[in-house]
Amino acid sequence: MLILVWGCLAAKGQKTLKDALKGKFHIGVAMNGQQISERDTANVNIIKRNFDAIVAENCMKSMFLQPREGEFNFAEADKFVEFGERNGKWITGHCLTWHSQLPRWFFTDENGETVTADVLKARMKSHISTVVGHFKGKVKGWDVVNEAIMEDGSYRKSKFYEILGEEFIPLAFQYAHEADPDVELYYNDYNEWYPGKCAAIVKLIKTLRDRGLRIDAVGMQGHLGMDGPSIAEYEKAIQTYINAGVNVMVTEFDLSILPSPRRGIGAEISTNIEYQKEFNPYTEGVPDAAMQAWTNRMLDLFKLFLKYKEITRITMWGVSDGSSWKNNFPVRGRTDYPLLFDRNYQAKPVVEDIIKLANKRN
Ligand code: G3I
Repeated sequence: MLILVWGCLAAKGQKTLKDALKGKFHIGVAMNGQQISERDTANVNIIKRNFDAIVAENCMKSMFLQPREGEFNFAEADKFVEFGERNGKWITGHCLTWHSQLPRWFFTDENGETVTADVLKARMKSHISTVVGHFKGKVKGWDVVNEAIMEDGSYRKSKFYEILGEEFIPLAFQYAHEADPDVELYYNDYNEWYPGKCAAIVKLIKTLRDRGLRIDAVGMQGHLGMDGPSIAEYEKAIQTYINAGVNVMVTEFDLSILPSPRRGIGAEISTNIEYQKEFNPYTEGVPDAAMQAWTNRMLDLFKLFLKYKEITRITMWGVSDGSSWKNNFPVRGRTDYPLLFDRNYQAKPVVEDIIKLANKRN
């Protein structure tokens, strides 16, 4: 079937996403374990053909890279990087400092007590230096800190914050830069368009720059839904970050078509809403009107992304709908349609629309 799709596209002489967007921004995709091992050939073929940038959905997180103190396991991450190099993809690393998917030992000593600030600094430095150093020259940019700021602009009360205060963020950027002075460094977060969060991130950028630390871009995760933000709200956030002097990357883009049980969940992983049938209306397919509304919003977002030269990468958080994390978040067991390729590995109509749009901007 895939061969058929390719055949059709080739017959029409059509460019793929990455060809059409060349010179505008990197068009990336997150790869899961099945894709990294290349067992999921259908999705791997889509990646090779349509995307010029990759990020690992899970295997570069600290619980996988350093499950026990001092014991690093780079097997899957190395495979991921090797895939990227073999296929000429622009590789980003996700993520160095995150309160989630972190090994249990990170904040505790041998007696189970919370570690001191000095011990935590040493552990952060060791983790960041080893990981960034390992991929030096291969990974082109890192999500250095992920999800540290709340929607109201306050700091997340994570263990990093509890032990080191706001200082943990500049420290993480410093350690990453020392390990690879050439690698790009990003702050990455969801609900990145909330004015309070946006203002706090701008303040953080200023703090880092005032101290002579490197930050290249804000990663706007872009886990969006049909109920908001408006295009104007999203654009305002993009402009705010650009005006703060950094580039913008949409790093984990997906657009859920399903009703959101609550506004503003974003990607708050502690959310788990009980399944109810009305939250899962499209198990047998999406009615035309709903699909058209999704297509229009996706296209409007790409139109927005193409407006700013400071937007340097758009990365989809998954290849095709069947393997999206959104099928299990914020309610488990739903059927969502958030990505550019469908469950049958076909490009959705919006892909052709994006290609046409990009061609017009040439
Ligand atoms: O590792 C276990 C594996 O041993 C087990 O067999 C399997 C069975 O379910 O689970 C595996 O763990 C899963 C893990 O992904 C690795 O595949 C977890 O259950 C699952 O909850 C976890 O979800 C990931 C989530 O981060 C964790 O917070 C998603 O795949 C991943 O898409 C998601 O990505 C995050 C970004 O890193 C940061 N921004 C938000 C985004 C969405 O939550």
